[in-house]
Parts: sequence; structure tokens; C-alpha cells
Amino acid sequence: PLQPVILSGGSGTRLWPLSREAYPKQFLPLTSQHTMLQETVTRLDALDAEHPHLDIRVRDPLVVCNDAHRFLVAEQLRLIGRRAAAIVLEPRGRNTAPALTLAALVAGRLDEDPVLLVMPADHNIRDEPGFRAAVADAHTLAREGAVVTFGIVPSAPETGYGYIRQGPLLDRTDLGRPAYALDGFVEKPDVETAQGYLASGEYLWNSGLFVLRASVWLGLIERFRPDIAQAVARACERITSDGDFLRLDADLFTACPSESIDYAVMEPLARARRDGADLPPAILIPLNVGWSDVGAWSALWAVREQDASGNVLEGDAFVHNAHDNLLVATHRMLAAIGVSDLIVVETPDAVLVATKEAAQDVKAVTQFLQRQQ
Ligand code: GDD
Ligand code: MG
Repeated sequence: PLQPVILSGGSGTRLWPLSREAYPKQFLPLTSQHTMLQETVTRLDALDAEHPHLDIRVRDPLVVCNDAHRFLVAEQLRLIGRRAAAIVLEPRGRNTAPALTLAALVAGRLDEDPVLLVMPADHNIRDEPGFRAAVADAHTLAREGAVVTFGIVPSAPETGYGYIRQGPLLDRTDLGRPAYALDGFVEKPDVETAQGYLASGEYLWNSGLFVLRASVWLGLIERFRPDIAQAVARACERITSDGDFLRLDADLFTACPSESIDYAVMEPLARARRDGADLPPAILIPLNVGWSDVGAWSALWAVREQDASGNVLEGDAFVHNAHDNLLVATHRMLAAIGVSDLIVVETPDAVLVATKEAAQDVKAVTQFLQRQQ
């Protein structure tokens, strides 16, 4: 079986003031009338039917989220008539490596060593059938024990992404697309390094989606970060269930070191394999399906359909002689005249005005607000 694992613990601070700590990005209907979490859940729906000969058997998703968001998750699934295999609650976010370790331990209790499809809850994918076809191939490779990543052709020296070095083409005629050995993994390089990677043409961005068996992840985290593996295992010894919610020992989980999948496992795995260590193969599948992590308002503008002047208007918004703006009005009318490349987001208690170019800097506001608390 294929067990989707939805990581839903992020805070989406660059989408302030719509995305708030109590109501982050993944729970907002940013790219359609459905929320990003709902989009993530339904994105896989036709997978079994489209690839019947592969016998994939997609399970209900395992959602890992913050305890504070449990009712949001449960309600958003209910509204689309869906259930989770379980909603695993983190008392405190400890980043993605502990979250995936939790999911792997829980998944191992539901099924015998399922293949996990690790998905961020807040990404957008334009070509969903294309995405499912790539997942089907990843499932084939992961079932054999590989760690599969998806690479995106980079368009800028972004420093917020991981970079995957593309190795030799695998000789696999059974797959629907080329797959490559993963030859290197560098998480969030500095801008000079990123520029070099872009110029070399040898690197793809890491999409943040991973496919691998539960046992393969548990083996890797035990090898590279035994401290995380043991802390999560201890927190899971006293797991309690309350309906669909699974709760762990709060103090023990909070004591777990905080680290991402990328730093904890992907970087050291790529390095150790280059040094010839006996480890699961790491594979790269290029993904060309209109992927976006909608990391900032400028990315949302790019994802959404623009009018003839390049404006994206949401809610009660009016433009005149204005082009390439994103205007979001939630409670009051918004009018923009003679301006271009602006982001304006109106909410009852806060208004953001920024240039599209500076959209990444919105996190300065949330940092400022946190310092004030
Ligand atoms: N459950 C849980 N707990 N989920 C979390 C936590 C946590 O503590 N922290 C983050 N997440 C979720 C986020 O909601 C998001 O969906 C996903 O995990 C990835 O976390 P981010 O914090 O958004 O990671 P990133 O954007 O810095 O980097 C990752 O994604 C990039 C592509 O978008 C890395 O994998 C990069 O290598 C990659 O390029
Ligand atoms: Mg992200």
C-alpha cells in the first residue's frame, strides 16, 4: 500500500496577514475554493484507477499537525467527506524529521511496512494527473527500498530550497519517465552557491516530497540522528488515541531535537552514499507539473489566474490603470489606481502593502510581532 503522510505543521509566516499562527496557510483556500490541505488530500484520488496494473492501494492520509490545529484538520477533512487514517498531534512542532519519524512509527502499526508518500500540506500542483503518474513510478522504486525525491528545474538562485545534484540516468524501461541517481543534496545553500548550481545545469530544486518505505526512513533516522529516532520512539511509547486523534507524551516529544528531513537525513545520506556506504539508493525523478510551494504572496500571484492586465483580485477589489498586482480584500473594498507589481492584503485587523519583489521579507513583520509578545 501507499500511505500518504501530510505534514501540516508549518506556520506560513510569509503569507501574513491572511496566514496566522492560529490559522496558517495550509488551512486557507488560497489556490481554489478548497483549502491547501483539502487540495493535498484529494490530489491523489485517481491514482489507483489511473494505474490499475501497479496495485498501489492508496490509504487514507496520515496527517501530522500541531495539537492547536486538530479541529481545523478534522473539520476540513469532514467538509470534503474524507477521513484520515489518523491525525497525529504534536504538542510542539519539532520540524519535519521528528514529524516523519512519528508518521513512520504510526504507519507501521496500520500496515506492514507501507511505502510513505511524504507531502507538505501547502503546495500547489497544476498538472495533477502528471503528478500522480510520477508518484506511481516513485512508488515502484520505493517499494524496492529506494529513497525517491522529486526535482524541479530551477528558475532562480533561491536560497530557501534544497538542491539535488542529478546523477546518471537509471536503466529502467518499466517506468513512465526518466529517473536518475541522486548525486548530492544541499539544503538551503547561500546565494553564491545557489548561483553556481543554477549556472551548472546539474542541479534541481528539491520539491519537499519524498517517497520511501516506513522501515527505510526509520533505518536512516536511526543511523544519522539516533537522538531524534530515540526521542520520538520514547514519546510514542505512551501514545493515546481519542477518535481519529493520536496524542503522544508531550514532555518527551518536546525534548526531541528540532530538525528537518533535509538536514537530518537527505544531506548525510547523499554524502555517505558518495563515500560508498551501504545505504538505500537515493533516486531523483524530475517533476514538470507546475509545482509551487506558494511560499510568498508573489508565488501566489504567479499560481493564480491573472486578468488581461496581470492583476489577481480576490474579494471586493477594484483596479484602474493598474497592472500585475495581487489584491486581496476580506472585509472592506480595496481600490488600486495607477500602481503595478504590488501586493495588498486587507484583513479586519491588519493590512499589508508590499512590492512583489519584497514579498519574501513579509516574515519580518511576523518576527516583529513575535518580539512584541
Ligand atoms: N507536522 C509538522 N511538524 N509539519 C511541519 C513542521 C513540524 O514541526 N514543520 C514544517 N512542517 C510542514 C510544513 O507545513 C510544510 O508543509 C512542510 O512541512 C515543509 O516545511 P517547510 O518549513 O515549509 O520547509 P521549507 O520550505 O523550509 O523546505 C522544504 O521544502 C522546500 C520546498 O518547498 C525542504 O524540503 C527544501 O529542501 C525544499 O526545497
Ligand atoms: Mg516550505
